[in-house]
Amino acid sequence: MDVTVGRILFTEEQIRAKAKEIAKRLNEDYKGESLYLVGTLRGALVWMADVMKEIELETEIDFIVASSYQGMDTTGVVTIKKDIEGDVSGKNVIIIEDIVDTGTTLFKLLDYFKGKGAKSVEICSMLNKPSRRKAPVNPKYNGFEIDDLFVIGYGLDYNQRFRNLPYIGVAELR
Ligand code: IMP
Ligand code: MG
Repeated sequence: MDVTVGRILFTEEQIRAKAKEIAKRLNEDYKGESLYLVGTLRGALVWMADVMKEIELETEIDFIVASSYQGMDTTGVVTIKKDIEGDVSGKNVIIIEDIVDTGTTLFKLLDYFKGKGAKSVEICSMLNKPSRRKAPVNPKYNGFEIDDLFVIGYGLDYNQRFRNLPYIGVAELR
């Protein structure tokens, strides 16, 4: 059994336009304030780069590695494998995520940053799969909603492959 990329769901142009649209909202919603972007490695890398370039506010970036996934299925257990390096107390944290699926990972991270004394915590996700939600997580800044499909590319992987594709496609078994 192998995996290839099937139907293309979103092109680079579509994703970048969406990133611009969301950054514009951030620029308005946080006018006069600064942002602390926390990217979830490794998946959010490409999306984060697109969004941050369009932000006109004073901005710091940091990264966290949290994982709840094995292959195509979640284990439901979230572990923080690499913590952020800066101090988020009193900051407006925006978690930059590739995709919100069951919500397990984000549910834990929201709590985690609030516990570290963040002034506010919101989620900016490239994709959202609401039909799979198990934890009550609702990204305020959301790129595209998709059906219950396993997708790859633009940072998203299948067992660490395909992250470099410059578009988002459906993973196809063959
Ligand atoms: P959650 O905790 O179930 O919301 O899992 C979120 C994480 O699972 C994402 O950050 C991705 O790393 C991974 N994930 C969920 N769905 C997909 C998918 O369709 N393709 C690739 N990775 C996915
Ligand atoms: Mg991820």
